[in-house]
Amino acid sequence: AAAIVYEAENAVIVSGAVESNHAGYSGTGFVNSDNVAGAAVEFAVRQPAAGTAVLAFRYANGTPGARPATLTINGTTHSTISFATTGAWTTWANTTVSAPLNAGANQVRLTATTADGLPNLDALTEGADGGGGTPGG
Ligand code: GCU
Ligand code: CA
Repeated sequence: AAAIVYEAENAVIVSGAVESNHAGYSGTGFVNSDNVAGAAVEFAVRQPAAGTAVLAFRYANGTPGARPATLTINGTTHSTISFATTGAWTTWANTTVSAPLNAGANQVRLTATTADGLPNLDALTEGADGGGGTPGG
């Protein structure tokens, strides 16, 4: 099945702004969260049938340290994603996780767990693989 790209600049942003000053992003920009714990980005991911989906988060972290975030799916904590350094704010990488999604709309939310906030977030690609059926319906 084809992958669906959800641009972070179209997501719900809690404590952050859409910016475009670091090259290499897709779409029209990326989300620069405020450097605070609790900064969050929530994507609305649609899925035609319940099942496991592969979620790939594209991000940049130009600092030496990781920028951990809690991944919450439909209000339930799923995991912590570390968002390791990418070496530069213009170097973008994907980190991938498998997660259960419901049929219909799903709230896929990343919340920063430290005072560094989130990494810069470019996009979420859903359904590159996985058994949840054709994404995006
Ligand atoms: C720099 C960088 C931002 C980034 C920020 C951070 O200011 O230009 O894009 O979000 O560092 O540390 O979070
Ligand atoms: Ca930031």
